[in-house]
Amino acid sequence: MKNTAGSEAAKRAAGEAAAAAVSDGDRVGLGTGSTAAHAVRRLGERVADGLDVEAVATSYQSRALAREVGVPLLDLADVARVDVAVDGADQVAAGANALVKGGGAAHAREKVVAATADRFLVVADDSKLADGLDYPVPVEVLPDALARVERAVVDAGGDPTLRAAERKDGPVVTDNGNLVLDCDFGTVAEPGALARTLSDTAGVVEHGLFVGLADAVYVGDADGDVSVR
Ligand code: 5RP
Repeated sequence: MKNTAGSEAAKRAAGEAAAAAVSDGDRVGLGTGSTAAHAVRRLGERVADGLDVEAVATSYQSRALAREVGVPLLDLADVARVDVAVDGADQVAAGANALVKGGGAAHAREKVVAATADRFLVVADDSKLADGLDYPVPVEVLPDALARVERAVVDAGGDPTLRAAERKDGPVVTDNGNLVLDCDFGTVAEPGALARTLSDTAGVVEHGLFVGLADAVYVGDADGDVSVR
């Protein structure tokens, strides 16, 4: 499931502005998705100009892009601290520190990197801002736990849909070998409470509610202007 509404100019503006916040010597978390990709490409340009950074990728996709643009990589499994992570979002609650992520099915590693970072910078075009979170919450599920997690989501007031692969028959399989349920909870009144409920469900590997993790949100618009919240 993907929120594709925003303009490319807005995504680029947000991504490049956040890439400018990376300093020499930083260890950087590289997010996944089209907005974070602008940050990764800009970082590659800065590395070519002499910026000295090391990075960890949140997905196969962001690792491949980092290699392509020349950002040096470390293995995430070896990294206990990151200075700054830059990543996109599918929806950002305007008045609260809460996001929905996981449109690219990378939210498990994305959350590890965000939680490991001293500063977590979210990059988004302005179509992602909402008064309340009503975007379906991606839940990564151990395949053998699919039925029980579907039931637990329904018990929690949600409507789960197994994410289907776009280009072939069958479900999306994450980089970690798991499945994804997109769970429609309507407007989530208490993101923190729902996040705890999902985290407490056996069989849930990770969910896409990111609550209290963002240190700043870079919001780009179609004119290329960026506000930082
Ligand atoms: C991937 C994500 C992405 O950051 C999110 O889907 C936003 O992507 P885009 O910038 O392409 O709109 O959470 O799991």
